[in-house]
Amino acid sequence: MSDQAARKPRPGDEEELVIERFDESGRGVAHHKQCIWSVLRARPGSTVRVKALRRRRHEVEAVALSTLATDPRAVAPSCAHFGACGGCTLQDLAYAQQLAGKHALVVASFQRHAALDEGVDVLPVLGATHTERYRNKMEFTFGNRRWIAPHEPQGAADGFALGMHAAGLWQKVVAIESCAIQTDVGNRVLAAARAEALAQNLEPWCVKRHEGLLRHMVVRVSGTTGEVLVNLVTSRAEPERIGPYVAAVIARVPEIGTFVQTVNSQAATVSYGEAELVHHGPGWIREVLGGVEFRVSAQSFFQTNSAQAARLFELVAREAAPTGAERIWDLYSGTGTISLILARHAREVVGFELVPAAVADARSNAERNGLTNVRFVEGDVVETTRRETEFPEVVVVDPPRAGLHPKLVEPLARVPARRMVYVSCKHSSAARDLAALRPYGWRAVRVQPVDLFPHTPHVECVITLERAP
Ligand SMILES: C[S@@+](CC[C@H](N)C(=O)[O-])C[C@H]1O[C@@H](n2cnc3c(N)ncnc32)[C@H](O)[C@@H]1O
Repeated sequence: MSDQAARKPRPGDEEELVIERFDESGRGVAHHKQCIWSVLRARPGSTVRVKALRRRRHEVEAVALSTLATDPRAVAPSCAHFGACGGCTLQDLAYAQQLAGKHALVVASFQRHAALDEGVDVLPVLGATHTERYRNKMEFTFGNRRWIAPHEPQGAADGFALGMHAAGLWQKVVAIESCAIQTDVGNRVLAAARAEALAQNLEPWCVKRHEGLLRHMVVRVSGTTGEVLVNLVTSRAEPERIGPYVAAVIARVPEIGTFVQTVNSQAATVSYGEAELVHHGPGWIREVLGGVEFRVSAQSFFQTNSAQAARLFELVAREAAPTGAERIWDLYSGTGTISLILARHAREVVGFELVPAAVADARSNAERNGLTNVRFVEGDVVETTRRETEFPEVVVVDPPRAGLHPKLVEPLARVPARRMVYVSCKHSSAARDLAALRPYGWRAVRVQPVDLFPHTPHVECVITLERAP
């Protein structure tokens, strides 16, 4: 082997790679020169010319310079903004290939942590029936530096944009004409908000100088009732300018049932703030899942794909298998979606959640649905579960991406329940947690991935655990 061929890649090296798969962040992965290459904007199945950016031991981060051969299975992306927009990174992969890639990622995580017994396989990913217009919530950004596409003429207007951050360029905003994963009415709201902001001369936010009026717009369209909520985030209240703007947007899209304004004068680009003003409607929309009605307000957490969330929760209920006689614990209960759906089939459900606003949402949803056999305990799960005096027969956990708190593993493993259902939004964390639960006798008997986010590398999993005899 020549010296050139044997030496480890260095930043600046250019190579030709055949991309094998995508990773958890949607980058293309290839093995080459005894290293694992992770390549931004590279599709599985394609041959690409890449430039190495940095290397840490055997891992090289690279960027694709050009595509030399595309995968014959590649499909035309359904969105005109694909590539420029930072979302939907997998849209040019056939959906079946996306699902196969997600399955491979889950399998790899469980293998890495030796988390499954022999004979327990990861089931095929439960794919979405609708891979477009599936999101019930989209957050758009106003900016004063519009991203200019390479084909646009010189001197094109670039001082105003409403859309998504450009991929890898946080200061620039891609003006989104139509987003393929949000609803038609959501796209009409987007067009109306842009047209009226320009007509009424309302200045967009500048992330560099921290000035301007319009910052973000969150559009929520209930996937189950079709009700529409718009949350406009501004830097100041300015009712004399925002009032007419809101009225004009509603006149263009009369389906808007609630229009709220959130004031955020801080530099941080977030869509919550110091004050929330309801300009129109009740301030919330309704979603109905598992026979339970949920009120979703501007700041409430709710799964963003209602149709797949319904299937996910149905699966959780099936795996928890309540007969009506059980006490169930729902750890990391959020706004109580799982607790309330299970409460209809169990003797008692106790939800444990840290965030007070989520607990308040959960309690009011319980009350309105007449569910009296459910209670929510506010605080850190490690502390609050320790204070309970009666153990459950079934435990459901739905932790954040980091997975179970390390201090929770042992007390949770010692709970004398017969069944545990682990709902995971990050399979690598779940696989690590499962491996940590194994010494206490807990074994995964089923792993069912569910796709809630077509065209992205994310995948949820419902893992059923039983205590080994
Ligand atoms: C993936 S979400 C669960 C969503 C929930 N199943 C629902 O449908 O609304 C994770 C939740 O864990 C909560 N959380 C994070 N750390 C926590 C802790 N230490 N104790 C209790 N809850 C926590 C978060 O506030 C969040 O609501």
